[in-house]
Amino acid sequence: MSELFSSPEWQALRANHSVVASASLREMFANDPSRGTRLTAEGAGLYLDFSKHLITDETLNLLVDVAREAGVEVRRDAMFAGEPINNTEGRAVLHSALRRAEGDELVVDGEDVVADVHATLARMRTFAESVRSGEWVGHTGKPITTIINIGIGGSDLGPVMCAQALRPDMADNLSLVFVSNIDGADLDAALATADPETTLVVVCSKTFGTIETLTNARFARTWLVDALGDEAAVPKHFVAVSTNAERVADFGIDTANMFGFWDWVGGRYSVDSAIGLSLMIGIGPDKFDEFLAGFRDVDEHFQSAPLAENLPVIMAMLGVWYRNVWEFASHAVLPYSNDLARFPAYLQQLDMESNGKRVTRSGEPVAVDTGPIVWGEPGTNGQHAFYQLIHQGTSVIPADFIGFVKPRHDFDEHHRILTANLLAQTEALAFGKTADEVRAEGVDDALVNHKTFPGNRPTSTLLADALTPRIVGALIALYEHKVFVQGVVWDVNSFDQWGVELGKVLATNILNELNSDDPVAAAEAAGHDSSTRELIRRMS
Ligand code: F6P
Repeated sequence: MSELFSSPEWQALRANHSVVASASLREMFANDPSRGTRLTAEGAGLYLDFSKHLITDETLNLLVDVAREAGVEVRRDAMFAGEPINNTEGRAVLHSALRRAEGDELVVDGEDVVADVHATLARMRTFAESVRSGEWVGHTGKPITTIINIGIGGSDLGPVMCAQALRPDMADNLSLVFVSNIDGADLDAALATADPETTLVVVCSKTFGTIETLTNARFARTWLVDALGDEAAVPKHFVAVSTNAERVADFGIDTANMFGFWDWVGGRYSVDSAIGLSLMIGIGPDKFDEFLAGFRDVDEHFQSAPLAENLPVIMAMLGVWYRNVWEFASHAVLPYSNDLARFPAYLQQLDMESNGKRVTRSGEPVAVDTGPIVWGEPGTNGQHAFYQLIHQGTSVIPADFIGFVKPRHDFDEHHRILTANLLAQTEALAFGKTADEVRAEGVDDALVNHKTFPGNRPTSTLLADALTPRIVGALIALYEHKVFVQGVVWDVNSFDQWGVELGKVLATNILNELNSDDPVAAAEAAGHDSSTRELIRRMS
């Protein structure tokens, strides 16, 4: 599909750049009183204001033309229908099936995947309810009070992000703890406060072959068995979430205590599968259903809204505009919600593991730059850290500001201050402050340049009523589909991640050397470069 970048649609978009670049957001708003209400879109409980972007109505039309020419609609429909669009792994990409309504039908390879999804959801519901009610007891007869979720990447980031986002929905009698890192400090901190008699460990790994997760799970198991003095305690304190029943059994977890999912769910697209089990236990199955409904709202919107009004398509194409036409390298996500503190980290995996690719689906070098660097922190903390660079640095960083009309706490004054800051930031970034304005304030000439703000720094503002389970689901699906659309335009496979493999293989080799009697000699014999050899010597 790299002919896209020599197509008339793409050429027209590139030509539009010089028109827009010679204008300013100040002028565009001044000359067009309805801009701030017209360049907006709404759906699935989300309101997107994209008027503070470096675009005209013509740009939007051209971006939509490019999306259509790239085949976004065709590929979207192929994904929802279960076609094997993950071509390098020969798999369907069906995270959308995880939130299909009960009773829907989608047959893939002779199996109704929606029925399978709901059978697993029903088992999860029963289990979650029994843990929440205290009916499920540990080996010594006590109800569960602590859930330790052990997993990494997609088997951690989604549940941990959502558990924090939905803090007000969490059961008071349960604490959720997440262990991901192979740095033993992570497990150490989790076990330090947990009581083995009342702890349930949920081991999450799609492959059940990830060294970090298996090592943490093995040590947690030893901690539990040592404390309770009985191997027979394990089934009451350990459950697994995986696609690989054989490895779960090999590890020593009874597959009766396993919740499955399918290879057509990518790790970073799995929070709404059984990987969300600890979240479901925390917020309860009914709220988990609302969470799934939020995903479904966006799926429906993505499939039905015209491209020019389609939230994920607009967000994706603005990203393409900046990455490929303006050549901006990074993209910030700035939630004005402390409970969304982990959302940028979640999106880093979703976006960068999906679209951090340098070859096309057919293995040819890509024609243009692909995924941007995604980063962010919640407001207002970021304002007192890195916003200086966004306002006055030499790089332009398009940003998504995310805000909520109503807080889910009683500190109304805090919320007004938070909101004022969110709105002020996008205003300051768009319109800046000219040297004349600075001078008119009586600022000394020597400081005028320092106090001038260039403006024209593009932002989206994404608003929702409140950070409810449904909206968290909608936000995740919104970004999932945004990433999908960009992958289609760049013609990369957004659903593999071969780039993580080399480091894993090399780590296994070095681990063998560190485990040997003489790591220095082993490193020498392995033929490492002089830097790695010296580092191994110092670390062993
Ligand atoms: O190494 C990257 C990765 O494969 C991610 O894609 C995945 O989410 C993570 O590791 C964890 O994998 P698993 O769930 O199989 O343990």
